[in-house]
Amino acid sequence: MDDKNVIILAIETSCDETSAAVIKDGELLSNEVFSQINIHTNYGGVVPEVASRNHLVKLPQVIDEAVRKAKISLNDLSAVAVTKGPGLIGALLVGVSYAKSLAYALNKKIIGVNHLMGHISANFLAGAQPPFICLIASGGHTLIVKVISHTQYQVLGSTRDDAAGEAFDKVARVIGLGYPGGPKLDKLADEGNENAYEFTRAMIKEDNYDFSFSGLKSAALNHINKAKMKNEAINKADLCASFRKCVCDILIMKTMRAAKDCNINSIAICGGVTANSLLRKNFKAECDKNAIMLTMPDAFLCTDNAGMIASCAYYKYLNNEFEDIYMNASPSQRL
Ligand code: KG4
Ligand code: ZN
Repeated sequence: MDDKNVIILAIETSCDETSAAVIKDGELLSNEVFSQINIHTNYGGVVPEVASRNHLVKLPQVIDEAVRKAKISLNDLSAVAVTKGPGLIGALLVGVSYAKSLAYALNKKIIGVNHLMGHISANFLAGAQPPFICLIASGGHTLIVKVISHTQYQVLGSTRDDAAGEAFDKVARVIGLGYPGGPKLDKLADEGNENAYEFTRAMIKEDNYDFSFSGLKSAALNHINKAKMKNEAINKADLCASFRKCVCDILIMKTMRAAKDCNINSIAICGGVTANSLLRKNFKAECDKNAIMLTMPDAFLCTDNAGMIASCAYYKYLNNEFEDIYMNASPSQRL
């Protein structure tokens, strides 16, 4: 197989972002994202059925735009790639069905991508070279992974309960910041005192790479409820700042420890939560202090987008990892 002029169209519809990207020989040519956030804001969170229906309406337009901006024609494609899981079943099925139909009609190869492998692969676009230790922190997952090669991974640890993004979103919702809470909490936290509230850093001393965020989330909610019962006003900015600092400390400490234990002096971060401004600032400072190389994709590549799926698909293509027309969505797929 010719490894030059490999052009792949990638589709991502696992949650509430409808996205398509084109990659050529590992370089992104386009990366179109239609965010359904404004639609789901009315409901206070993602409504799966609504997400699927909007993917169905938007996906053809988003693909057209990605192909147009890449200045290619569909016939130039070497393969069509798509996120097959994990994610919302209905949302995934829209992308998978579309990708299979397109590949079949054009007689192109099909590549199925794990969404979490996609998040990791955003780092290849940002220049990361394996081996590196990767923190994935998103709305549904929080993991530390040893990335051995572009297509080989070893999961070192993961959350035992809530994902970091889930905890951000829940606390933000209870203090009335709306959906999605993570970015809003991040902004408000900039105005607060990070030492105002004390939170326990769960599992920080344990000799593993696992996380637990549900206790921290409950502790934050308890502060809010106690204040309500006493008819006292809570300082929202202070609470956000203290909560954000605690989550960041835990994520950074555990990732640094994994790098040290594995004797790997390169760290990369990905997933929506790694768009967090304090996390990025403190990760940078900590890595500089310890002479560790840090890769942080632009915030746009940290949240869901098809560019990261295209990046993963490119290395799968080089590795001859293809699927057939019977490929199905896999909503609970693990890394
Ligand atoms: O990776 P992503 O876009 O979707 C999933 O695969 O889950 O991550 C979304 C999560 C949400 O929980 C959102 O609140 C969180 O990432 N997030 C943030 C920030 N931006 C997005 N959390 C904290 N600070 C941010 N700036
Ligand atoms: Zn994601």
